[in-house]
Amino acid sequence: MAMSDTAAVDGAGGPELGPGGRPSRWASLHATGGTSGTNDHRSAAASGGLGERYERRFAELAAAGMDVHGEAALCAALVPPGGRILDAGCGTGRVAIRLAELGYACTGVDVDPSMLARARAASDSVTWVLADLVDLADLDGQFDLVVAAGNVIPLLAEGSEARVVRALAERLRPGGLLVAGFGLDAAHLPLLQAPFGLAEYDSWCAQAGLALERRLATWEGAPSTPGDGYAVSIHRRS
Ligand SMILES: C[S@@+](CC[C@H](N)C(=O)[O-])C[C@H]1O[C@@H](n2cnc3c(N)ncnc32)[C@H](O)[C@@H]1O
Repeated sequence: MAMSDTAAVDGAGGPELGPGGRPSRWASLHATGGTSGTNDHRSAAASGGLGERYERRFAELAAAGMDVHGEAALCAALVPPGGRILDAGCGTGRVAIRLAELGYACTGVDVDPSMLARARAASDSVTWVLADLVDLADLDGQFDLVVAAGNVIPLLAEGSEARVVRALAERLRPGGLLVAGFGLDAAHLPLLQAPFGLAEYDSWCAQAGLALERRLATWEGAPSTPGDGYAVSIHRRS
């Protein structure tokens, strides 16, 4: 199973509201108990005690022999150890924690206190920050790479995506990379339909000064082809 499949492990957060008072799609999932998804990861995460269940589900996948570190492995192939990495929408911290183990200086940001509490309990090797991705002005310094794994971008509050992409781009050093993986259809999302497509995502990146460098179909590096249900996009700040 590829990490594009596990990336549909989604659930919900607290009552946090996005810009304009809109809840994130993540928070809405929590409020409604999830959508009609067929993915068992998704339903497991959507049925209460989110941070704990999310963490447990990935532990189960790892115990079943699945490589659950595809996202971290790709990031590590892009930036030498010692680099600064921001895990945007870090959830329970699984990507940032793995990257810290590989020698990166990691910061994880999430707006959901229940998810971040699990991350804090799991590792003190990462700087954990409770914040909304629309405004990262208080974060220290710039990053070599920002990763948004696990459908973070489609789970933002509707209408906030371009602002978030801009905020992430502003945290990158010149030449730094934004790496985002997300579903492009209902089979790869905990949503009834994809809220946007790659053309729209690329336009938000372009507005934020990010140029598309590479697009993959999975975190393991499978080539992207038209009609894929999942994409990992790598954009570089000029
Ligand atoms: C499906 S989880 C992915 C977690 C983690 N990236 C992973 O791959 O395991 C999506 C995360 O995005 C976070 N999120 C959604 N909107 C956010 C926002 N505006 N600011 C910060 N985090 C946000 C949620 O709280 C949730 O933890």
